[in-house]
Amino acid sequence: MSKIPKAFTDSAKRRVYGRRLGRPMGQTRQAAIDDILPKLTLVEDDVAVERTLNPQSLFAKPQDIVLEIGFGNGEHLKAMMEQKPNRNYIGAEPFINGMSAFLKSIADMPHNNIRVWMDDAVTMVRAFNDESLSAIYILNPDPWPKSKHHKRRIVRHETLIEYHRALKAGGDLIMATDVDDLAEWMVTETMNHGGFEWQAERSKDWQTIPSDWFITTRYAAKGEAAGRKETYLLFKKVLN
Ligand SMILES: C[S@@+](CC[C@H](N)C(=O)[O-])C[C@H]1O[C@@H](n2cnc3c(N)ncnc32)[C@H](O)[C@@H]1O
Repeated sequence: MSKIPKAFTDSAKRRVYGRRLGRPMGQTRQAAIDDILPKLTLVEDDVAVERTLNPQSLFAKPQDIVLEIGFGNGEHLKAMMEQKPNRNYIGAEPFINGMSAFLKSIADMPHNNIRVWMDDAVTMVRAFNDESLSAIYILNPDPWPKSKHHKRRIVRHETLIEYHRALKAGGDLIMATDVDDLAEWMVTETMNHGGFEWQAERSKDWQTIPSDWFITTRYAAKGEAAGRKETYLLFKKVLN
């Protein structure tokens, strides 16, 4: 079993469904958790009170803030940092193996524009001030296929209220999934919210990888190899 960092508290465990700990980590990954995570992580106090955290205060340079929720091993987050270095990034991923893989992968990159949260993304977004994010990415969220588990989905009415509040006017909510039922659910929930405008005009728009997409994650590539098609869902915040 990997050494568990202090940030991994009992209260944190209760907020997230599913796996938090996985296979034992190698030395470099453990070192990333021990040495890099403490420098980049938000702390419990940052997110303790709703709507009180200006996420810009986490960074030295004021610039657009992009949040990725459930980044897995962080390939997409890292690709954004490489391809658009003049933005600030926040990544949320509760699974320690994913967090350690991401931190290891960015060990030699600049760290001034990246902050992370190894816990439930919604708890963190709730703490953000209104209109503080330029974009939110949610790629291949856990599908929770059983009806009794739909309330665990990371894209649902209650969480969309928080994503909408935290986004700037005109900000992007960018989602993808290779689970058809979930794609339908995400479109329905997001449209029903009323504060997002779907950018798609024809089916080709959600069936084709957008031209400015940063990278195909290993997860998406595996799905494609198994015959599943990724659906790309691009929304913009409008006022409701
Ligand atoms: C199916 S994986 C997809 C990973 C990655 N986005 C990709 O496309 O390769 C879903 C991820 O969401 C994370 N996740 C689950 N619940 C979460 C929550 N409440 N907040 C943030 N991330 C969460 C999981 O740990 C997992 O890494």
